[in-house]
Amino acid sequence: MTRGPLLHGEMMRLRPIEARDAERLWEAVQDPEGTRLTGTTATFTREQIAEWASTVSDRPGRYDWAICPAAERDGKPVSDEMIGEIVLNDLDEDVRSANLRLQLLPNYRGRGYGREAILEVLRFAFDGVDGEPGPGLHRVSLDVLSINPRAQALYESLGFREEGRLRDIYRDGDTWADAVVMSILEDEYRAMSRT
Ligand SMILES: CC(C)(COP(=O)(O)OP(=O)(O)OC[C@H]1O[C@@H](n2cnc3c(N)ncnc32)[C@H](O)[C@@H]1OP(=O)(O)O)[C@@H](O)C(=O)NCCC(=O)NCCS
Repeated sequence: MTRGPLLHGEMMRLRPIEARDAERLWEAVQDPEGTRLTGTTATFTREQIAEWASTVSDRPGRYDWAICPAAERDGKPVSDEMIGEIVLNDLDEDVRSANLRLQLLPNYRGRGYGREAILEVLRFAFDGVDGEPGPGLHRVSLDVLSINPRAQALYESLGFREEGRLRDIYRDGDTWADAVVMSILEDEYRAMSRT
């Protein structure tokens, strides 16, 4: 598998994750709200994160992009700093399906970056970009915890549909949360992107 391509939106651009993103990935796994809302329970060392950052973009069956601000000056990006990550993983070439996940760093949430990042990745997943075919997917799925209404509302507004729930699959402090399984199929994506 080749590395993910560069993808450009209006507010943000996506580039493959690289070794220099280790510090920002480390921030992401230290962020209590982010780990709670993504249901991340595993813990990592800095060394593991550094190893991950330097190898993940060349691992098969997945595309891992850093979300970066799109602003340019004199034709060059003002900043190449990662402000979040978005991932297509569990790619199945026979079924033409994959899983989507994303996380923005705390200061960058609620500003529209997530919506645009998902739209660019779906375009690549279903239609390809710049005349290149991309993985030609038929289905993109994800799961979102019931304690995460912002993410769920965002996915619904982009055309993802709820398929079912894994009830009380996640422990949230003294209580439990469901995982809501959602997906979007290629014809649903095309209908959504025409509107
Ligand atoms: C979930 C996440 C990726 C969304 O990205 P984002 O850039 O913050 O989202 P956007 O600003 O593009 O859009 C958020 C949408 O949710 C809406 N929203 C915000 N807070 C909300 C809430 N509490 N309940 C319902 N909707 C809410 C916004 O109005 C916006 O909708 P709009 O575009 O129609 O106005 C980001 O907030 C994040 O990284 N959160 C922490 C990690 C996480 O939850 N990851 C997803 C795991 S499934």
